[in-house]
Amino acid sequence: MEQTFIMIKPDGVQRGLVGEIIGRFEKKGFSLKGLKLLNVDQAFAEKHYADLSSKPFFNGLVEYIVSGPVVAMVWEGKGVVATGRKIIGATNPAESAPGTIRGDFAIDIGRNVIHGSDAVESARKEIGLWFPEGVANWSSSLS
Ligand code: CMP
Repeated sequence: MEQTFIMIKPDGVQRGLVGEIIGRFEKKGFSLKGLKLLNVDQAFAEKHYADLSSKPFFNGLVEYIVSGPVVAMVWEGKGVVATGRKIIGATNPAESAPGTIRGDFAIDIGRNVIHGSDAVESARKEIGLWFPEGVANWSSSLS
């Protein structure tokens, strides 16, 4: 089953949006497979955003991600990578539609609350980076 990596960034955690964001993914029907609150250091943030290292905003982006705790999650379900990106909304909150997370809760591209993998392959890499210990197994759930 398809999985994606979702991170609530420091501004989302500090503003108390964790429950709201988790609720949106749960209510859509996706399954939570991994969840942790943690602080990452500069080297880790640089690794996560390695593809953006040549961008002029790279240093500011890394500084922002290390500025406070983040919530790292793995969500699973049919089409979760693309649908997750729709739930999140466009990268630039000025362009993200109302009803999306960024459309409802952000105004600044540099403080855009949440990250979601942009493709199945990047999800695989990001889950491996953030959850080297693996994720939960639902097979023993009551049903
Ligand atoms: P994210 O989905 O985490 O993927 C890359 C991040 O880079 C993006 O969200 C933004 O937080 C950040 N980003 C992209 N473009 C810009 C920009 N022009 N200025 C500042 N930050 C940016």
